Amino acid sequence: MQHAQFPPLLHAIAGVEINELAHRYGTPLYVYDAATIVQRIRDLADWDVVRYAQKACSNLAVLELVRRHGVLVDAVSEGEIRRAIAAGYSLQGDPPPVVFTADVFDRGTLDLVVERNVAVNCGSPDMIEQLGRVAPGREITLRINPGFGHGHSQKTNTGGQQSKHGIWHEQLESCLRLADHHGLAVTGLHMHIGSGTDLEHLAKVADAMEQAAHSVGRRLCSVSAGGGLPVPYREGEQRVDLPAYFRLWNAMRERLQQAFGHAVRLEIEPGRYLTAESGYLVAEIRAIKQMGANTFYLLDAGFNDLARPILYGAYHAMSVVPQQNTTRQRPVHDVIVGGPLCESGDIFTQREGGFVEHRPLPEAHVGELLVLHCAGAYGSVMASNYNSHYLPAEVLIDDGRPRLIRRRQSFEHLVALEQNLD
Ligand code: LLP
Repeated sequence: MQHAQFPPLLHAIAGVEINELAHRYGTPLYVYDAATIVQRIRDLADWDVVRYAQKACSNLAVLELVRRHGVLVDAVSEGEIRRAIAAGYSLQGDPPPVVFTADVFDRGTLDLVVERNVAVNCGSPDMIEQLGRVAPGREITLRINPGFGHGHSQKTNTGGQQSKHGIWHEQLESCLRLADHHGLAVTGLHMHIGSGTDLEHLAKVADAMEQAAHSVGRRLCSVSAGGGLPVPYREGEQRVDLPAYFRLWNAMRERLQQAFGHAVRLEIEPGRYLTAESGYLVAEIRAIKQMGANTFYLLDAGFNDLARPILYGAYHAMSVVPQQNTTRQRPVHDVIVGGPLCESGDIFTQREGGFVEHRPLPEAHVGELLVLHCAGAYGSVMASNYNSHYLPAEVLIDDGRPRLIRRRQSFEHLVALEQNLD
């Protein structure tokens, strides 16, 4: 049974009553605690640049919050570049406030990157070629696939031969020649081997980076360790040893500075680490069913709201919110928690492969709320309109004050781009 970090009965998030939030904004509802995001940013203060991988949670208010705390941003699409601009980031600066990282340019993004002179981190020889053809003379960075990877799921492993990400490490030399040919100066290297990995695997990247850096030579002025820092999703999981991780990269950076005779900037590119723990998905229990031996709590939130369990068998701790503010203990039952979608995989308690699992949770009643923890990264951003459910609202609590940062979608929003037959 879970305890302190994820109490079985929960009344408030960041000091605000959850029943009150649900009453005011409806459910399903994403709630973020700004103070947790700020704390996670402070954890990474040693690094020269913390570059937020906004794909984890790209709400404009969240981007603005991290920007105000000195965090720069990564973008992986035209939409993410435009989000960064809308959140107040400028495109020019040293270090560049916004970097576009990808393995392909779609045409719209290439046009935007060229027109607005957005910094680019190229993950394929074709990107170098396509950018070089239309915008010679720029500085670029290269994302290298070091030949190995690791993630919390095979689907989040972004290194090795089976991954489509980055420039294969053995092609670095030829890509440097290609860049030269187009008058592009390679001034930085980046490696991201996967998401939700562990320190053991992340540590190996620094060695691979050092080797690659020597191929680039003296013009190298930045290295990025990528993202991938894990967070404790389960009670009892250890926090990652950040000082040890920084020491490793910093020592490598210092060796490079020694060899090159100038400063080398050290960047880190976390997504999940900054926002996962700040976020909660609040849902209402709308039905409690007995299917033979199994008890199901069925919520008004499904994998359309939080896809991580069905996609990766990801574990999210859960709490029940009592209707009255009582501390009375309740009996605990093994239950299965699912959503409203007409698809049997719409289960929040499953492990990878779709195997349904039981979860010990307090006895609950229809009409009470259930909270899924650690939902602030890859939660709302991966929500969909499947079954024509509306995208949930989002609220940010700052200094005890909840603020609506995204309205719930309406039927009009849902069909706004569609057209009836004449
Ligand atoms: N940098 C690059 C180039 C990335 O591709 C990613 C994540 C990150 C940084 C940030 O990784 P993080 O620090 O958040 O682990 N939907 C999956 C995660 C997919 C991550 C994709 N790229 C999940 O829910 O676990």
